[in-house]
Amino acid sequence: MSGLETRPLHADFGAEIVGLDLARPIDDVTFADVRRTVAESGVVLIRGQAHIGPEDQVAFSARFGMLEEHVLTQFLLPGHPEIFVVSNIVENGRHIGAHGGAKQYHSDLAYLSEPSMGSVFRCVECPDDGGETAFVSMAAAYDALPDDLRRRLDGLDAVYDYVWSYDKRLAPLRGPLSEAQKAKTPPMVHPAVRAHPETGRPALFLSDIWVRNFVGLTEAESRAILNEVMATAIRPDAEYVHCWRLGDIVIWDNRSTMHRACPFDETIARRLMHRTTIKGDRPQRKRQAS
Ligand code: SIN
Repeated sequence: MSGLETRPLHADFGAEIVGLDLARPIDDVTFADVRRTVAESGVVLIRGQAHIGPEDQVAFSARFGMLEEHVLTQFLLPGHPEIFVVSNIVENGRHIGAHGGAKQYHSDLAYLSEPSMGSVFRCVECPDDGGETAFVSMAAAYDALPDDLRRRLDGLDAVYDYVWSYDKRLAPLRGPLSEAQKAKTPPMVHPAVRAHPETGRPALFLSDIWVRNFVGLTEAESRAILNEVMATAIRPDAEYVHCWRLGDIVIWDNRSTMHRACPFDETIARRLMHRTTIKGDRPQRKRQAS
């Protein structure tokens, strides 16, 4: 143990790590503790990192695993393709980052065959009012479900369909996907409940926006189940809402949490965030008790 100092962010999940400087070398024992804290807490806050640059963020993130390049290549930071820019800022008539989306709960890249393990999100510019990021624990949500629904979900697989979802929600705002982007995101089947590969804890692995149906169920039957699950997972008292300060870094575990961006007045305020996304592995079904 490295003696890392942590404070809880929410009664059910989340921790702030105090006193870490990501511009300085972090020894292996301390990093192992950071990694364990992410796996166990789901969301980790490290404040005071306004002085670090894209290289520091990439180097720190890469200690968790290989980094993803996002399918929306137009929003990668020039010179640092590992950084996905999330922003409402327009420069020279063009959006410099992904904008307008992410306002509904999701876990990053859940629609890929190997969804992201986690993301490291750094606040470069934030509005005075609004623009928070809200999180829920899908492990806590799994525990909170009624027994019969939990048992049913243990045996279900969900069909993620990114192109179907994008065409419905984002194409009018961001333009259509290219044929290459569509080819990278075919429909994908994942277990509705996954075991966390580091802690073994089961968590719901579902999305209100990308899951089109459960295997063997119609879209209408699937929607009814999704609505019930999301009503349990997404409640004000189950949320941790992070109010950003310049230089905050939040690391979230996409295997056990979901997040969403909160609204702000995009006509007057600027928000600029840099995200690195860590590759994950194929979700594994929760082990059934024998
Ligand atoms: C994201 O979904 O990666 C971004 C969330 C946010 O903008 O707060």
